[in-house]
Amino acid sequence: MKILVIGANGQLGKSIQKIVSGAKQNNEFVFVGRGELDLSKKESIASYFDNNNFDVIINCGAYTAVDKAEEEQNLTNQVNHLAITQLAGIAKEQKAKLIHISTDYVFDGTGNKPYKETDKTNPINVYGKTKLAGEKVLQEIMSTNAMIIRTSWVYSEYGNNFVKTMLRLGKERNEINVVSDQIGSPTYATDLAKAILKIIDNRDYQDKDRATEIYHHSNKGEISWYDFTKEIFKLAKTDCKVSPITTEQYPTPAKRPRNTLMSKDKIIEEFSVEILDWKKSLEACITILKEQ
Ligand SMILES: NC(=O)c1ccc[n+]([C@@H]2O[C@H](COP(=O)([O-])OP(=O)(O)OC[C@H]3O[C@@H](n4cnc5c(N)ncnc54)[C@H](OP(=O)(O)O)[C@@H]3O)[C@@H](O)[C@H]2O)c1
Repeated sequence: MKILVIGANGQLGKSIQKIVSGAKQNNEFVFVGRGELDLSKKESIASYFDNNNFDVIINCGAYTAVDKAEEEQNLTNQVNHLAITQLAGIAKEQKAKLIHISTDYVFDGTGNKPYKETDKTNPINVYGKTKLAGEKVLQEIMSTNAMIIRTSWVYSEYGNNFVKTMLRLGKERNEINVVSDQIGSPTYATDLAKAILKIIDNRDYQDKDRATEIYHHSNKGEISWYDFTKEIFKLAKTDCKVSPITTEQYPTPAKRPRNTLMSKDKIIEEFSVEILDWKKSLEACITILKEQ
């Protein structure tokens, strides 16, 4: 199969690329970044696909700056929503399968048990609203052959993320305050990348005209950003005191949902995806970061 990965320079895109380049592949992969395919420009998307056909398109590209999105609503909407309308139309026309990555921020976080794929969505910030709009148009245009994978709290050895920010702050400061009343599960981008590659290799997935479905994926665990930071410092042997604070004590331009734990039962049952414990995956990432 010929597989396109959009958003190749982001955390997930790079994680897929690392796995694919490290082992012999039965499939042909093409990786494109913003330079080759700009999701904020209709013409760029159209002209890229004028000359290129694929069996599977994996969209890892997104406007992910949650706070800045509050100011840049039009651009965020273009990248996270309108571009998906266009990609879905193209995938349908090319008879390609489309795997699109979405977010736990489609939920308002007021639930008190892990969100299932069928639970009511109600995003509370621009990023979440535009990502949900992207999910909806994709489902409308492609009733078959698309897949939406919602993930949460993504980190990796690449780009900017919470783990790398905390490691930097831990070196610069003696003490740090971190929010302890927002609960979720971190996702090591490598684990999500492996899950996507496993799904693509699954015979059932390759079935023609498979109904479009939503799946949830993250690591295993139920933690706050405060718990996450304590473990980051423990693993990195960083000598910096961590104190818990409330969301109210740390105001941000975009509102954050309080509890976005997601049930992974569906992806486990249908694709036998192994969900690793968050501490194990964090340790793997920190080991790589230390070697760099
Ligand atoms: N990061 C998280 O915590 C998180 C949580 C839940 C869900 N997700 C979802 O997971 C997916 C992967 O996220 P990630 O963590 O890998 O994000 P990321 O590291 O921010 O990567 C996003 C990629 O999208 C690209 N992009 C942004 N605007 C673009 C445009 N106009 N045209 C083409 N590419 C553009 C970026 O390109 P440049 O490299 O050129 O900037 C970047 O490479 C996204 O769908 C995201 O919404 C992420």
